[in-house]
Amino acid sequence: MSEEKRPVKITETILRDAHQSLIATRMTTEQMLPIIDKMDKVGYHAVECWGGATFDACLRFLKEDPWVRLRKLKDGFKNTKLQMLFRGQNILGYSPYSDDVVEYFVQKSIANGIDIIRIFDCLNDIRNLETAVKAANKEKGHAQVALSYTLGDAYTMDYWKNIAKEIEEMGADSICIKDMAGLLVPSQATELVQALKAGTKLPIQLHTHYTSGVASMTYMKAVEAGCDIIDTAMSPLAMGTSQPATEVMAKAFEGTPYDPGFDQNLLSEIADHFKPMREEWLESGLLSPKVMGVNIKTLLYQVPGGMLSNMVSQLKEMKAEDKYDEVLEEIPRVRKDFGEIPLVTPSSQIVGTQAVLNVVMGERYKTLTKESKDLLVGKYGKTTLPVNPEVQKKALDSLGMKEPITYRPADDLAPSLEKFEKEMAQYKQQDEDVLSYALFPQVATEFFKYREAQQTKVDASLANNENKTYPV
Ligand code: CO
Repeated sequence: MSEEKRPVKITETILRDAHQSLIATRMTTEQMLPIIDKMDKVGYHAVECWGGATFDACLRFLKEDPWVRLRKLKDGFKNTKLQMLFRGQNILGYSPYSDDVVEYFVQKSIANGIDIIRIFDCLNDIRNLETAVKAANKEKGHAQVALSYTLGDAYTMDYWKNIAKEIEEMGADSICIKDMAGLLVPSQATELVQALKAGTKLPIQLHTHYTSGVASMTYMKAVEAGCDIIDTAMSPLAMGTSQPATEVMAKAFEGTPYDPGFDQNLLSEIADHFKPMREEWLESGLLSPKVMGVNIKTLLYQVPGGMLSNMVSQLKEMKAEDKYDEVLEEIPRVRKDFGEIPLVTPSSQIVGTQAVLNVVMGERYKTLTKESKDLLVGKYGKTTLPVNPEVQKKALDSLGMKEPITYRPADDLAPSLEKFEKEMAQYKQQDEDVLSYALFPQVATEFFKYREAQQTKVDASLANNENKTYPV
């Protein structure tokens, strides 16, 4: 008896999450472009190539315009959908923006080539997703809501099932389980996918990281349980804190009802493009063996890989590297005091920094960061469980507030696009520039100045050439 074919769909992450997770988001557009033609022939469901930290990294480190990158990728990918990662009301930044900025960013992302917007909120507060989802609906883009996956008393199968229902009602086109720390183990994946399938008719996608070493087995179980789409990365930037390898997953499903039907020869040619880069990144130290192995501590402390490396550099700066294990143990305590929230940008940074301070100061919550205070008084949204009332009182007092916020935080934010337009008018060369500025005012301004200087240089050298070619 043969089973009905249900090929698994695959989203390729090498152009976004894989290099964000392994080499601090430093892959340049020039490194991507020569291989796009081949990648376009694989038959991917989508290629994730924009958003997340890539926007910030383009402007800050690579001196590239992220919008130009997106347009070049769109030109090359003629048959494959492009996907971006979007931090809900925080867009691609670290704190909430007013609705007009969120709407304009979605509009411009889709106009420049994005097909699928994967939208998540670090607290799974669905009020923080609404503006972006509605904007994507309006622009005829595919609105995928990603649930930040985490463990804890509050996260029962009913929690996931109910939130999936709410997301469907909100108008999302698909749901993704976003397991940023690699916490989802194979047996739980079966249960979770079944629960989500029972709660909604929407397609289910699974996104995980190899950090704890179980990811490819988790994918296998999830797909067998009905998961429609998985996220993988081409082998030169797979495994470790990145995703399972595309070639390996495609091979593993060969001859099963879930066979995606990929051409292994084509995949191998694509891998050959990235292999020499991997060698260079290893040599320069950008790719560290530390992020490539299995780190089972992530299962013990439930801390995403990126958060661990941030923490190490903070402790180094404070000359307190010996406190590493103490901080690791402090993180779950802070997380509990902060309402047992998922740890993903920006909540991972907020909890991580507070845990470092608690340990280094030798007294818990002696100093609260501004972000911790905001989180405790509801300025990021609703936490999964109530926060510790004593710590919250401290935050309220120091902010001069009587009560925490219970409404949607962005309701407090007045439209701000016009203000940003005025501030950056002198640098504007395209409509999208105002969005780069709104998200990263300092970094974008520096980039705009750099861009102008480059253009002046080009003009000058053209003028020079002209003189040489046509001597008067
Ligand atoms: Co990820």
